[in-house]
Amino acid sequence: MKKLLVQARAKINLGLEITGKRTDGYHDLETIFQEIELADRLELSLGGSEIFLEVDDRSLPADESNLAWRAAELFLRETPFYSGARIKLWKKIPRGAGLGGGSSDAAGVLKGLNRLAGGLLSTETLMKLAAGLGSDVPFFIKGGTAYATGRGEILEFLPVRGWRQDVIIVKPEASLSTEIMYRSLKIELTSRLENIRMLRRELLANSFLDLGRYLFNRFEKTADSLCPETGIIKQRLLESGCGAALLCGSGSAVFGLAGSLEDARRISDNWKRRGETVFVTKICS
Ligand code: C5P
Repeated sequence: MKKLLVQARAKINLGLEITGKRTDGYHDLETIFQEIELADRLELSLGGSEIFLEVDDRSLPADESNLAWRAAELFLRETPFYSGARIKLWKKIPRGAGLGGGSSDAAGVLKGLNRLAGGLLSTETLMKLAAGLGSDVPFFIKGGTAYATGRGEILEFLPVRGWRQDVIIVKPEASLSTEIMYRSLKIELTSRLENIRMLRRELLANSFLDLGRYLFNRFEKTADSLCPETGIIKQRLLESGCGAALLCGSGSAVFGLAGSLEDARRISDNWKRRGETVFVTKICS
């Protein structure tokens, strides 16, 4: 059976504003998704008559409640020539962190199985299947940088080139559930949509120096009240020399933009000495 190795990369949100609550239970938002190098690894093969999923992290489900499994199920439903798939998943992206790990795994399964099937499904079809799995799964089908609206599935991919940015990610022990974060969110009267639009404009112009000024995440206050460590980590990242820092998605991880790889390593070593979960990674552009 032919095997394919796939990297399922994480994302951060450079900007995220909620614009309203919808009648379908979701929220409308405007956000900038940014792929980063931190990644899970998938080994995929097509064949047999069942779906097998193996995950190295025993705290994660290895059945149909795992989004990677559901992605395989959806793919097999669309492609009558195949009725089984085998997935091995090595986790590196922490969960409950706002880094989109589960969503990226699901997108990786869709893309990988499609490659093994000789590109049977178009990217558009993969994006549609992805949207049925979760709001940020479609982004991971293409990755890179994207301005997203709707519930996160309406995407404008931005042709960002040459942004060499080192990133530090700190994950507190506590995790945050996306669903609970949305439920706990208080819609505010003041909007910071201008930040998201400025980020989009700067990125389209391939102008990265001022990006830190516009970083914004509506979830920060809520995260701070449910997990005060998020605010403390952000403050410490700024004090230790990061040019900017922000909550990742709906939390609980926080990222910082470092001036150089040496800076990133120095800052991360300090966190590691305190026994914290920290990653040094890079923006993908
Ligand atoms: O789409 P996904 O399954 O990743 O979303 C998880 C939960 O987060 C949803 O069930 C919903 O409660 C909330 N959500 C939301 N608005 C969005 C995205 C997610 O309310 N735009």
